[in-house]
Amino acid sequence: MKPVIYVTRKIPESLLEPYQDQFAFRMWEKADEPVPRDVLLKEVNDAEGLLCLLTEQIDRELLDHAEKLKIVANMAVGFDNVDVAAAEEKGVTVTNTPDVLTATTADLTFALLMATARRIVEASEYIKKDAWENWSPYLLAGADVHQKTIGIVGMGRIGQAVASRAKGFDMNVLYHARSRKPDAEQELGAVYKEFDELLAEADFVVCLVPLTDETANLFDREAFGKMKRSAVFVNVSRGGTVDENALYDALTDGTIRAAGLDVFKGEPISADHQLVKLANVVALPHIGSASEETRSKMLKLCLDNLAAVFNGKDPLTPVNNG
Ligand code: NAP
Ligand code: GLV
Repeated sequence: MKPVIYVTRKIPESLLEPYQDQFAFRMWEKADEPVPRDVLLKEVNDAEGLLCLLTEQIDRELLDHAEKLKIVANMAVGFDNVDVAAAEEKGVTVTNTPDVLTATTADLTFALLMATARRIVEASEYIKKDAWENWSPYLLAGADVHQKTIGIVGMGRIGQAVASRAKGFDMNVLYHARSRKPDAEQELGAVYKEFDELLAEADFVVCLVPLTDETANLFDREAFGKMKRSAVFVNVSRGGTVDENALYDALTDGTIRAAGLDVFKGEPISADHQLVKLANVVALPHIGSASEETRSKMLKLCLDNLAAVFNGKDPLTPVNNG
């Protein structure tokens, strides 16, 4: 009997094909809609492996329904949607997808930073709504990026890849994390700062921490109050790291200049979300790692993690000890 693997979204058959001999795949049939919770709870009942997305909450209730489950292969590097402690208690391995998405997410982070600073989306909309009548000196003038100071909060894989892009723009790189990163200091000239110092000195504050109890609402009213009035805030981490009401106030009362946001609390958000309505916000629908190549690599890594575990090998990218 091949182990049953439940895949929580319709993914290309061509990706599953090389693993068909080994696994009995069952799959939610929609590509653009998450599996309903009640269906998921039923499907995990006899599943030995789960390939899931960040749209699924893999909590204790689900794990209680999944007595045969050996591995949760989460198609994301962030795993705040998984109760890792509960999985560990039940001997379930959890894996994520680090590294394969680092460069793609760093590209998007830098694109979002540039788009926000130079008002690219607003400028494009300006033409589309037929508002361009004259060229004038300060028409849609934004902020320079080159030779400014970027402050990266969360200097891990993606944070460091953003820093290397920033160096290409002659930026001064500051960073904050719980531990010093000697390689980034040596190779990228990044300078360690306490959180408050970074907020006070950076022209661009970029959030790339994982969402944990410690980082929940890290960017609150006090944090925005410490930034420069000209600061641009960029969040490609998780919406949960930001107090969105405090951010709204900071953007509307001139505490900070603008924000570029790829992630939100309570995704998906709609067009009437208070932050999306602001002209000084560039909002994206959580597309950090969304290149065709990288999304396929992430899915393949999930499948390779499943294969490793069922072949009695160590998973390639474990989050816990299983
Ligand atoms: P990573 O390599 O683990 O980096 C995380 C960094 O955050 C580390 O430098 C860590 O350093 C630091 N950190 C952790 N807790 C902290 C805290 N309390 N205060 C300050 N720094 C802290 O992870 P990654 O691969 O770069 O990914 C980072 C996050 O980006 C993911 O967890 C995910 O949420 C998000 N992400 C989003 C997208 C998207 O599509 N928007 C795509 C990919 C990833 P220390 O341990 O030394 O503190
Ligand atoms: C995406 O948000 C990820 O964590 O990979």
